[in-house]
Amino acid sequence: MQVRNWLVALSLLLASAAQGAGDPAAGKILSLICAACHGMDGATSLLPTYPHLAGQSEKYLLQQLQSIQSNERQILEMTGQLFGKSPQDLENIAAYYASLPGKVLAADGDAEALAKAQAIYRGGVLERGIPACAACHSPAGEGNAPAGFPRLSGQPAPYTVAQLKAFRAGQRTTDEGYGGMMRDTARSLTDGEIDALALYLQGLPVPQPGSFAWPGRFQFSASAGAEDVQAGAAD
Ligand code: HEC
Ligand code: HEC
Repeated sequence: MQVRNWLVALSLLLASAAQGAGDPAAGKILSLICAACHGMDGATSLLPTYPHLAGQSEKYLLQQLQSIQSNERQILEMTGQLFGKSPQDLENIAAYYASLPGKVLAADGDAEALAKAQAIYRGGVLERGIPACAACHSPAGEGNAPAGFPRLSGQPAPYTVAQLKAFRAGQRTTDEGYGGMMRDTARSLTDGEIDALALYLQGLPVPQPGSFAWPGRFQFSASAGAEDVQAGAAD
């Protein structure tokens, strides 16, 4: 009897999951116009202040698309882009970008700043109430898709800086459904910490010692697993 109840619950869960899922093929067609700014592969932004969408969690993408469409998250450059799109269209777009492989850029900045960023990312700053980013965004920065915690790995640093400052200033309020956890997290980060975290995140997952030039700039020498790791900056 218990097993049967459990099976019923599971099938309901699966049914609702299937119902909510978007169709990547339909999303691909709708995304052609987005490529102008977010890249054909969803990970080649026109400007470094524009985010990568490829490999981002579907749930997170859908939530942001809804917030952008309703103008709760105001993005001047995206004015009109989502006009007339149905809820199903947004789900399809989210499914499409989530299905693309994410891309990681090179971590930049000096070794000291990156080490400081890594310490905050992995352990937080206890005395200032800053939680470990890795607890929600995962140690490798790929996020937590079922929870809707976004992937941070590979995001161009200027984009991440802008988001952390917007959360800190209370201007970005899309974390309302999560009890304002990102505004709380960013509240006491300094400008220097934000810059360092953003440069660190751009290159996460960080290669193991030996595979990058040390000291000085972090540099990737090999592609890491399924990720499309680009060889570092030109230098
Ligand atoms: C003219 C340039 C432009 C076009 C075209 C554009 N975007 Fe954007 N998009 C941006 C910018 C700029 C941001 C980030 C702004 C900010 O918050 O700092 C953004 C942010 C986003 C985000 C939030 C990502 C995150 O990590 O939170 C999503 C999702 C998104 N765009 C999807 C789309 C989709 C889907 C389309 C096509 C229907 C599209 N965009 C077309 C410029 C553009
Ligand atoms: C308790 C969980 C939690 C912790 C800890 C946390 N985050 Fe987040 N983070 C979130 C959630 C949830 C969102 C999405 C909020 C939304 O919907 O806009 C987010 C969003 C972000 C974004 C915006 C991503 C994008 O694509 O626009 C950045 C950047 C970010 N977090 C960085 C950090 C950093 C850096 C730390 C550590 C100092 C951190 N987060 C700690 C849960 C967390």
